[in-house]
Amino acid sequence: MTNDRVRTLVEDLERTLVEFIRTHRVTHAEYRSATDVLVAEVQAGEGSLLFDVFLEAAATDTDNHGRPGSVEAIEGPFYLPGAPWLDGPPYVLPQRPEEPGMPLVFHGTVTTETGEPLAGVELDLWHADANGQYSQIHPGIPEWNLRGRFRCDGHGRFEVRTIAPPPYEIPKDGPTGRVLDALGRHYFRPAHLHVKLRHPRFGERTSQLYFPGGEYLDSDVANAVRRELVMDVHVVDDPARTARHDLKEPFVDARYDFAFAADAAMTRA
Ligand SMILES: [Fe+2]
Repeated sequence: MTNDRVRTLVEDLERTLVEFIRTHRVTHAEYRSATDVLVAEVQAGEGSLLFDVFLEAAATDTDNHGRPGSVEAIEGPFYLPGAPWLDGPPYVLPQRPEEPGMPLVFHGTVTTETGEPLAGVELDLWHADANGQYSQIHPGIPEWNLRGRFRCDGHGRFEVRTIAPPPYEIPKDGPTGRVLDALGRHYFRPAHLHVKLRHPRFGERTSQLYFPGGEYLDSDVANAVRRELVMDVHVVDDPARTARHDLKEPFVDARYDFAFAADAAMTRA
């Protein structure tokens, strides 16, 4: 980002906020309460959670505007780089013996935006467990549980077995929770899978995928659900198909096809 870009953005933000203070006749006590919330956010270790809840999805919308291919989505605060590469295929996300939750087979294809299969794309998948908690973020969960990396095959197809995550609450006991309380909003995000796609020539894309008909789809606390990010989902209760995935019970079949648009900067290089 150039200094010119910083100047343009910061000066417009300053004008916008000054106008906001005048319009709403914000008192000095109210102003100081607002800055106290930002200080408390950092002191509580919530990082950028407050901004991410209210603003991150708008920034990804800006990135998506006018760009071909699948839309991107918010990364959220729980991504960790360096997840283990999975052995396979077949790929199974690291999980505890008897990991709670209905089995989920997540599969699909990765193509270019013109529909040509993209071989060897890296998928970096992470999601919450059946209690809505993430390994290395919440205590008592084995390292890298429900996190892992694998690749598409030579035809751009991928498939991995894991468990279906539930909706979960974002941290609610800190300053972000107090702001949501003041607004009368709940703390829930709908059930979702996080995934990053990487290709040496196309770059990296961040997605977040949702289940049709899921709770909180229409009232996500982070306002991040987009119609294009909802997977094609159904339950499979056919012994022949469950056995094929080394399962004895019904599973959730979730399909999503990614169209990986070339990164203009990378393809120029
Ligand atoms: Fe998440």
